[in-house]
Amino acid sequence: MTNEAYKKEIIRLKDKLDVTIVAHFYQKDEVFDMADISGDSLQLAQMAMEDNNPYLIFCGVGFMGESVKILSPEKRVLMPKIACCAMARMIDGEHYDTSVALLKKSGIEKEDILPITYINSSAEVKAKVGEMGGMVCTSSNAKKIIEKGLKSGKKILFVPDKCLGQNIAIMMGLKSCVIGDGTDPKESDIICYNGFCSVHQLFDVDDIEFYRNKYDDIKIISHPECKPEVCEASDFVGSTSQIIKYIKELDPEQKVAVGTEFNLVNRLRDKNTYVLSSTKPECPTMNETTLEDLYNTLKSIEDDKITNEVQVEPEVAKWAKIALERMFEI
Ligand code: 13P
Ligand code: SF4
Repeated sequence: MTNEAYKKEIIRLKDKLDVTIVAHFYQKDEVFDMADISGDSLQLAQMAMEDNNPYLIFCGVGFMGESVKILSPEKRVLMPKIACCAMARMIDGEHYDTSVALLKKSGIEKEDILPITYINSSAEVKAKVGEMGGMVCTSSNAKKIIEKGLKSGKKILFVPDKCLGQNIAIMMGLKSCVIGDGTDPKESDIICYNGFCSVHQLFDVDDIEFYRNKYDDIKIISHPECKPEVCEASDFVGSTSQIIKYIKELDPEQKVAVGTEFNLVNRLRDKNTYVLSSTKPECPTMNETTLEDLYNTLKSIEDDKITNEVQVEPEVAKWAKIALERMFEI
């Protein structure tokens, strides 16, 4: 079938079935255009929770669908592609336990650690964090959540994104380190796990210099998953929805170079917008979802032969939900 034929069928199925299609900003345009709800990770979790339809079709990466299922277990959450965010895959429960054990070796007891996991992590890791009294954060609320965590007087163990952890530490004037970087974690307020997003590693200070030399008045905008030196050299740092809002409020003639995923940057506006890299920064897992996948998922509901349903083990879901709810309380 052609994309046009898929679109027609998807619209027919959307009208017939009690479904809501949810899409992250990094989805391909043709998939994104089919969505009823779009947003950043935090908005998607919130809006999906508030939605009344029994079926949610989540176009994004695994941790996003999983989070919605954990928060709203009564809903049937289907993912056209259960593609796993590469950063989330960098840490599992065993890696998490090893990190806690390494900190103990360095003289930091479990009781003196307040763990915070970026939402880009598996339900298993969220559950471990929840069991240890910790919480989840997203790129739009990480500073607030870390501020709250520090009030406990404990060290923050931040997993899995070292860049987000380091960027918040710089913003707050705090000390941070990365496990295994040779520094004493006892000297740091925020101890980061050595995870990162390979897409956001593509942006460099050299790219910023290139654009600043080319256009005097250009604004450099980056996502907090970018390297600390990139965020420090940027005019604005924010989550995907914060980036969109910031750019919408600028004069349309204002030139911007944006350090985040290609699909989002490409649909921001018609002119004066550049990708902050000479390489196309596409997220491979976000780009896996196609119109055909979306159609097949909807059809599986019509045919009563459901496919790609997100399931989370109850004990894991219980603790992961606690970690997620602590975030929403804040
Ligand atoms: P946002 O929460 O800012 O949408 O980020 C999600 C993500 O995976 C960025 O790479
Ligand atoms: Fe994960 Fe990076 Fe893709 Fe975001 S852009 S979903 S962090 S791999």
